[in-house]
Amino acid sequence: MNQQLKEKLHRTFIEYYGSGDRPVNVFHAPGRVNLIGEHIDYNGGYVLPAALEFGTTLLIGARDDDRISLSSAQFPERAEFAYGQLPGAKSDQWTDYPTGVMVTLQQAGYPLSRGYDLLFHGEIPNGSGLSSSASIEVVTAFALLTLEGHPVDRKQISLWAQKAENAYVGVNCGIMDQFAVANGKKDHAILLMCDTLEFELVPFQTGNYKLVIGNTNKRRGLVDSKYNERRSECETAVNELKAAFPELTLLGQLNRDQFAQHAGLIASETVRKRAKHVIEENERVLQSVQKLKENDLAAFGRLMRESHLSLRDLYEVSCFELDVMVEEALKIPGVVGSRMTGAGFGGCTVSLVREDQIERFVREVGEAYEKATGLEAAFYVCGVGNGAEQIE
Ligand code: GLA
Repeated sequence: MNQQLKEKLHRTFIEYYGSGDRPVNVFHAPGRVNLIGEHIDYNGGYVLPAALEFGTTLLIGARDDDRISLSSAQFPERAEFAYGQLPGAKSDQWTDYPTGVMVTLQQAGYPLSRGYDLLFHGEIPNGSGLSSSASIEVVTAFALLTLEGHPVDRKQISLWAQKAENAYVGVNCGIMDQFAVANGKKDHAILLMCDTLEFELVPFQTGNYKLVIGNTNKRRGLVDSKYNERRSECETAVNELKAAFPELTLLGQLNRDQFAQHAGLIASETVRKRAKHVIEENERVLQSVQKLKENDLAAFGRLMRESHLSLRDLYEVSCFELDVMVEEALKIPGVVGSRMTGAGFGGCTVSLVREDQIERFVREVGEAYEKATGLEAAFYVCGVGNGAEQIE
């Protein structure tokens, strides 16, 4: 984070909470982009996300009393409560994310021992599908566990952050976002096995190719209901495939051949398409890691393109805006791959673009996108950053 911003945030902190004779610590957690392996985490397969270089910064200072006070540099809503009386129900404000984390930590046997003032500064556009919620959850858990002197176990933090999102905020997400935000490493992608949470940091060295994230700025209206619908379609597929695989609990446990032999057990054609995406996308993740290790970016790019088509045609979670952005991206020379990233129905695309073409990419994809959709896109040229960390 640059010095100017840090100083500005310290000034805002003092404006909100007074100076006081106490240390103010600074923590950061990134957003994430998923390179490949979409809608796989809740199916217990492999995903390949990476942490971004921007995310959520938290300034936090201990108080003399028992109050927890939450404020944001972006949103006017604030919340205050006693640490022993955490709000039991959500308020449908941004403050639900940190509150949910405190409730989850308390339930896990890590209640707070004193009051704190917290000021959040978020750099991830909300609703963009770059995990602003996982970022604020993870930075909260990381900071509180650190200041309370508890062990900071990143795997455990991601599970608690996911639980806050599932049980308190009420969004039925998988583990990928919180895990990536907690465990990311600069210039590495994370190959995560979502069933066991075993992971490997895979060097993401793309030479003169850069990740360009394209924000469709399309509101992701249907995302929650469709997300839950896809999850239950996958459960249906598992139940029907049990006739051939009695031990099966998650689609990620099947390989392509096993699926091809028994796909006929799935009654609905739609559900069969959903399952086919999961089986093939899961394999594409491992192939991608192989290609990245071989430094074969062209092959990795092909897998990204296949992933997008599968999400569009089989899993049906893309939308007009995402498809236009991907199609326009692939028209620019020097683009090896492009796909939607995240849950879908809006949000962002991720493309791998040769450096000398980035200016043209931003201009031409932006213009064509606006012409086709009437929406203004935003682009972020982004390196891969670290997971959650203490800055001061
Ligand atoms: C959202 C969820 C993740 C994951 C992706 C799709 O980002 O939060 O858990 O399921 O969608 O890959």
